Amino acid sequence: MPTPAAGLSSDGAGGGTGRPLNEVVTVFPDPAEHIAWVQNGSPAAGTPYGNPDRPGGAHISSETSGGPMPAFGDLLTEEEILAVVRYEREILGGESESALAGGEGGVPAGEVPTGEAQSEGGETSAGGGSGG
Ligand code: HEM
Repeated sequence: MPTPAAGLSSDGAGGGTGRPLNEVVTVFPDPAEHIAWVQNGSPAAGTPYGNPDRPGGAHISSETSGGPMPAFGDLLTEEEILAVVRYEREILGGESESALAGGEGGVPAGEVPTGEAQSEGGETSAGGGSGG
């Protein structure tokens, strides 16, 4: 299938759709919020989102793009969302060894807090390793 994230912005150098993602770690310090963003897409135009305490403050939906980001919660699996979020945080956002790596306080793969379609708990042990 086509890669839904193919149109996303990259490193602030231009190109892509939406915002540059080099700030994404400060906008969503909590990976769970980042995951929720990708699942839900933009809120209504004009709605502040993300960490208001970051330099520059919260971002405002549709402010820079003229339109919203679509929701991916029904299009991507939890694993795919986790993977693209981790990519954004670590490769585009420069976060070293993001919390999504499953370390302390992290979001263990397979236990993404979607609130739906979540597999029954019980098999997740620390540092679970579906790598790569
Ligand atoms: C799975 C693929 C994608 C991921 C993981 C992703 C992730 C993100 C993230 C984390 C932000 C917030 C950036 C910030 O405010 O600093 C964002 C914003 C945005 N993205 Fe995406 N994106 C994806 C695909 C797309 C696609 C395909 C489009 C366009 C069709 C798009 C359009 C936008 C727009 C317009 C914004 C700015 C939000 C607004 O102004 O309301 N994104 N994206």
